Amino acid sequence: MTQIRTADLTKTFADAGGGVTALDALTLTIEDGEFFALLGPSGCGKTTLLRTLAGLETPSSGAVYIGEADMTRTPAGKRGVAMVFQDYALFPHMTVTENIAYPLRVRGVPKAQQREAVLAAAADLGLTGTDTTVGLLDRRPEALSGGQQQRVALARATAAKPSVFLFDEPLSNLDARLRLEARTFLKRLQRELAVTTVFVTHDQAEALALADRIAVMQSGRIRQLGTPREVYRRPANTFVASFIGSTPMNLLEGVVRDGRVLVADSEIAPPDGTGERLAERAAVVLGARPEYFRVSPDPLDGAFRGTVEVAENLGSSLLLTLDVSGTAVQVVVAEEDEPEPRATVWALPRADRTLLYADGELVG
Ligand SMILES: Nc1ncnc2c1ncn2[C@@H]1O[C@H](COP(=O)(O)OP(=O)(O)OP(=O)(O)O)[C@@H](O)[C@H]1O
Ligand SMILES: [Mg+2]
Repeated sequence: MTQIRTADLTKTFADAGGGVTALDALTLTIEDGEFFALLGPSGCGKTTLLRTLAGLETPSSGAVYIGEADMTRTPAGKRGVAMVFQDYALFPHMTVTENIAYPLRVRGVPKAQQREAVLAAAADLGLTGTDTTVGLLDRRPEALSGGQQQRVALARATAAKPSVFLFDEPLSNLDARLRLEARTFLKRLQRELAVTTVFVTHDQAEALALADRIAVMQSGRIRQLGTPREVYRRPANTFVASFIGSTPMNLLEGVVRDGRVLVADSEIAPPDGTGERLAERAAVVLGARPEYFRVSPDPLDGAFRGTVEVAENLGSSLLLTLDVSGTAVQVVVAEEDEPEPRATVWALPRADRTLLYADGELVG
């Protein structure tokens, strides 16, 4: 049973300006067997958190528990965790076999047992060769593609049979196609091994696709923690709202009037059930994903009236940027519904998918 827990974990780095708070009193529980993603912009503290869990970084204050034990001061090699780095950190002078065996050798595992574990992990990761592919076990990292190196790094992590996997952007050096493949593979591997996994990424699509739960971080703090569905459907604040989603959510400043929200001269119905609660003249932000609009060439009640400025091809659909009285509103329409350039259209946000923020926090 390997739960990971942090309590008030703080890490500050000294620098010329007086110090950077990379982790700010972070308290968090990751469940046994969970695939947990840490998501956030560059510099928000993801790597620092992972390194602190691994024991490669000592916290300034607070504690790290792995399983039942307080491991805040336990050296990295004794925590039962395996970390896979963004650049894989393979040893260039060692063959694939030697790389995979390395953590076992350091631990003094007998040769025969090392061999067995290496072969099992290498086979799991497709490194041993089949009728149609050659084995890679005797090669050195320089003779491997990025994707192959990544699989060696994963094999090295799994061969050691850790109770925790820590992944720091392990897919970011792969091209788009390989990345998708590797992502599916990683998910399957984690399911099979049921090892508690913390996965760092700044790619929101990757986090949504892989994770059981996601922590969205900003400036050393967690701004939202939830399932992919929760953070996608109901971002807790405008920071998370703007960060999650392949096309950014429309976040439109408005003001409450007669139980409706006035945005760029359009009166929009507020989210279900919030109408009565809204204070007259309150400043709010209306959140509506481009995917959740009904777009029509004819007037629709409670819709934005806008002019088509730009149409971008998303493959199977189109992203339209509308000019709504000077405010840009983006909506997704089916390819066959492409309007003429400069056409006037009405865009009605789906009431059950519309969100409302006041002072940056979700209120409805
Ligand atoms: N060794 C260090 N010395 C000083 N400052 C550091 C050190 N390591 C990290 N920082 C600072 O701590 C903050 C968090 O860095 P961290 O590497 O954890 O971010 P990250 O979320 O992993 O970003 P990225 O997505 O770019 O990898 C940043 O402001 C960074 O500059
Ligand atoms: Mg990082």
